Amino acid sequence: MAKEIIQDSSKLMSSFASFPTVLVTCQENIITVTLIHIVSFLPPLLGIGIKPERYSYGLIKEAKEFVVNIPTKDLLKPTIFCGAKSGKVLDKFKEAGLTKQDSLSVKTKSVKECPVNIECKVVQELVTGDRTWFVGEIVNGRIADDYKIEDSIQYWRGVYRLPGNILK
Ligand SMILES: Cc1cc2nc3c(=O)[nH]c(=O)nc-3n(C[C@H](O)[C@H](O)[C@H](O)COP(=O)(O)O)c2cc1C
Repeated sequence: MAKEIIQDSSKLMSSFASFPTVLVTCQENIITVTLIHIVSFLPPLLGIGIKPERYSYGLIKEAKEFVVNIPTKDLLKPTIFCGAKSGKVLDKFKEAGLTKQDSLSVKTKSVKECPVNIECKVVQELVTGDRTWFVGEIVNGRIADDYKIEDSIQYWRGVYRLPGNILK
């Protein structure tokens, strides 16, 4: 296997196939997020990487909580919409045809149409280069009994896909 030396970090990062894509609710707004990861199991912590120029950034900073809503393939259209429009100028719940559902342990609403809702309270903020990682402790959540992980949306570099084949 011949390998080329690549110093362009953007090209190196393009080598990842995809990352999970979620709808994060913050106050009355929704933002599509791909930079999400489990950053600790004990305590249970999720990290989301948000650019400071996003409208959502100030909302999360102020409320100190957010909800991670996992969309499935039938929600691709609103997922793209919430990642293209700003809540500063429109009501994304209304315009994307999504429904607010009361959360269990946080004031922030959940997205009713998403089969998974994970409620988080911010416990840490980590500034890394061009974005801030909000670390949220999972305090409650819901999973629909017919949720299929195979239907969750993956994204990277302009390509939306479903999770791949199981190897083992
Ligand atoms: C698939 C997808 C993934 C995205 N992931 C992120 C992300 O991880 N972090 C981020 O700050 N913005 C991300 N964005 C961009 C925001 O969703 C987008 O700028 C959005 O319009 C911001 O909304 P707001 O102005 O209401 O905060 C993503 C967009 C798309 C389409």
